[in-house]
Amino acid sequence: MKMEAYFSKYIKNALQKNPPGEWMFDLPDECIRLNSGFPAPDLIPADGLKNAVDRLLEEEQDLPLHYVGSPRFDRLKEYIQQRLQEREMKDGEVLVTAGACQGIDLLARIFIDDQTLVAVESPTYMEALEVFQNYTDHFMSIPVDEYGLQTDQLEEVLAERQRNGQRLPKLLYTIPTFQNPTGTTMTTERRKHVLELADKFDFLIIEDDAYGELFFRDQAVLLKAMDRHDRVLHVGSLSKIVAPGMRIGWVNAAPEVITALAWFKKDLDHPFVQATMAAFLENNDMAERLNLLRETYREKRDVMISALKNYMPSSASWYISEGGYFVWVKLSGIDTSTLLPRALDEGVAFVPGQYFFLNEADGKEFLRLSFSYASRDDIADGVQKLANAIEKK
Ligand SMILES: Cc1ncc(COP(=O)(O)O)c(C=O)c1O
Repeated sequence: MKMEAYFSKYIKNALQKNPPGEWMFDLPDECIRLNSGFPAPDLIPADGLKNAVDRLLEEEQDLPLHYVGSPRFDRLKEYIQQRLQEREMKDGEVLVTAGACQGIDLLARIFIDDQTLVAVESPTYMEALEVFQNYTDHFMSIPVDEYGLQTDQLEEVLAERQRNGQRLPKLLYTIPTFQNPTGTTMTTERRKHVLELADKFDFLIIEDDAYGELFFRDQAVLLKAMDRHDRVLHVGSLSKIVAPGMRIGWVNAAPEVITALAWFKKDLDHPFVQATMAAFLENNDMAERLNLLRETYREKRDVMISALKNYMPSSASWYISEGGYFVWVKLSGIDTSTLLPRALDEGVAFVPGQYFFLNEADGKEFLRLSFSYASRDDIADGVQKLANAIEKK
């Protein structure tokens, strides 16, 4: 029997595209992983989470193992709400999700149909692209520079589309702070501008703040905190600051949006994990933890930037990230997808730029390096190995 004949139009269409997660290739153990957007292994609080599980089961017995019933279920939501309020986000309701990714997927499900035009940054986070592509084939992409999304260009494109009677986007997906992959942050002026454009051209904005807590100097004001007209759908995550395997994220948006998301989400929660996370947060000082993360990742960023300065050819350039996990490198005249096998032979991995663009060719001369996962020594060695691979081309 041909099962495909029974598939919905959405999955039939999606299966025509590249398989998800192609950038997560298998690597030998000894390879230095400058490709992985994972937290540093020693910053994953395994002991703290073990204690949290012990305490949870001792205190609550069977409660967190039912569909509902653990009082800590609500406490996790309260913790998230409180933290968002500390970051000047006064409005909106929170829905806890299985990572930011489930939040993005649920938002796509309630806002996107196969005729919806979605605006994305160029480059952008590849998994979000994959999610949106499951629902629509209609995109426009707006370039990012060292100051984030180029809102002037966005305005120009929107105005031109309007003049020509072309459809306008319903959604803009942006990672305004420590963007994946470029590490850049949208300036306050551009944040104001993009909110004005949302009003003027009537679209909603998905603000993905996966890295916003990991600043090395200044904390950016959330787009959602500047939003006066419920235009912003804010998505956050504990993946980069506690542990990605816990799959804890959230959406903060207007109450009717949260209701609609919950309609689709039903009880696809992980009550035990959510209660464990709440128990972990009760017993661990997050402010202290965040300071440690910021300091550690800042040092690792510094190691990566000095290694780039020391070893890269003069044709290479990069942005200096002020937070997050990544450095975005341009190698003029080099196709980074053909460079990758050579780099792997040298013993270092990176993500070729092609994966971050709707039009893969736009990413040809770029690559993303991550300083989060590898040790300081490995970061320096890895960059040197990358330089060797470039030299041998
Ligand atoms: C911009 C961005 N958003 C979301 C995610 C995924 O977050 P989560 O693990 O909470 O689904 C990532 C992870 O790499 C990311 O870079």
